[in-house]
Amino acid sequence: MDKEFDVLVIGGGPGGYVCAIRAAQLGLKSACIESRGTLGGTCLNVGCIPSKSLLNLSELYIKAKNDFNNLGIEVQTPKLNLTKIMSNKNKSVQVLTKGVEFLFKKNKVTYIKGKGVLFSKNDVVVYEDGKRNSYKSKNIIIATGSYPTSLPGIEINEKNIISSTQALSLNQVPKNLVIIGGGYIGLEMGSVWSRLGSKVTVVEYLDHIIPGMDREVSKEFQKILSKQGIEFLLDSKVTAVSDLKNKVTIDYINNKSNTKSKMECDKALIAVGRKPYTEGLNLSKIGVKKDDRGRIEVNNKFQTSIKNVFAIGDVIKGPMLAHKAEEEGIAVAEIIAGQSGHVNYDVIPGVIYTSPEVAAVGKTEEELKKLKISYKVGKFPFLANSRAKVNNQTEGFVKILANAKTDKVLGVHIIGPHSGDMIAEMAIAMEFGASAEDIARTCHAHPTHTEAIKEAALAVEKRPIHF
Ligand code: NAI
Repeated sequence: MDKEFDVLVIGGGPGGYVCAIRAAQLGLKSACIESRGTLGGTCLNVGCIPSKSLLNLSELYIKAKNDFNNLGIEVQTPKLNLTKIMSNKNKSVQVLTKGVEFLFKKNKVTYIKGKGVLFSKNDVVVYEDGKRNSYKSKNIIIATGSYPTSLPGIEINEKNIISSTQALSLNQVPKNLVIIGGGYIGLEMGSVWSRLGSKVTVVEYLDHIIPGMDREVSKEFQKILSKQGIEFLLDSKVTAVSDLKNKVTIDYINNKSNTKSKMECDKALIAVGRKPYTEGLNLSKIGVKKDDRGRIEVNNKFQTSIKNVFAIGDVIKGPMLAHKAEEEGIAVAEIIAGQSGHVNYDVIPGVIYTSPEVAAVGKTEEELKKLKISYKVGKFPFLANSRAKVNNQTEGFVKILANAKTDKVLGVHIIGPHSGDMIAEMAIAMEFGASAEDIARTCHAHPTHTEAIKEAALAVEKRPIHF
């Protein structure tokens, strides 16, 4: 095997593997080190992909259970086979992780299995099964991702106090599942287990779910999830979680009244965020600096404090999203190849794959107020969209925020059917600097959910047709 490269990527997640492939496409000799045994990182193995498989299968189950008979599709009460659901999920993961291996072969990227440790700015040692191999590279990219974090004094034991990783592989439906953290993971996994039969309670520290999301969407989202049976305890700080083997107890304090309460469940999912994974890389020894939140510091070319050592994805600042890491992976490969790769952080979409989906790109109303940018709002409900109506998916709305003076689109927030796919149209529009008028004058196929976007753009100037 080759031992010297132009680009050596540590970490085979969406940031790392995409970077290795792009570097190879640009004619650079490229390799990727991964210790998990399979490529694809958290996203493919224990994150985005398995959760989307479970979200899809659990939604089919709940529809068959609650809706089919009413729609004229007569079924006996559907029976849940959790073992089969999990094996389907595992198959999806396997196909995709193998797919990345295939892409490496196709693009002539060397796949090095094992744990990489930096020994100098050009040397990486890889440990695997007691063996030690050394590699040299002109450029090194740190793309080691992140891991689930917990709260002070609360230990995730992956038995009854679990992280998202275990929540994707339970072999029994918990009767009572308490989720600490009303963020992306909490609400996606909460939806899965609630549909499969758990009584789900979400305990959130703040007075609203999904911090950072447009507040109007957040309120609507909570209302919809509550109707689906998920209970919310907001403004509640969890102080202790104890695994008593036959049950879990949770102590929490209401932030406003200061009252202390306790509750019990059979499983508690800790979903309070993730931490950059930089342990064991030898970073301080070679002089790579981190900030006060443990993230690797980089400049606008993704260079760390060592010029030829770069970092991308969850280990640096910015949203911990697979597609953000991918963009950075491509940009850094292009920068190394002498091109001018860059990432537009103003246009990074975010999607929560619940039912309905929630999707956003650009600024929220709260952010625009803080920045003192005057804006106009155009809103359109799915209740008035013909396609959503015939499909009985009328919850939610599209909200477009446009600059009050120039009409340029500054943010789009959608809660409703297929919003995760529809947000791409808005990301493209924003990349091209579109105005609300541009969107309003673009012909949208009828009948589609995307007409709600056009109508929201018309609503910016108070002239929607169907509402
Ligand atoms: P998150 O940052 O989205 O949410 C964590 C939540 O926990 C916040 O609402 C926070 O206020 C709350 N919290 C913190 N301390 C608490 C306490 N003591 N008691 C109660 N609540 C408390 O983090 P999450 O959901 O763990 O996700 C981790 C990362 O993974 C995120 O950066 C997210 O972007 C990413 N992710 C993305 C997905 C997607 O793109 N669909 C899906 C899943 C994860």
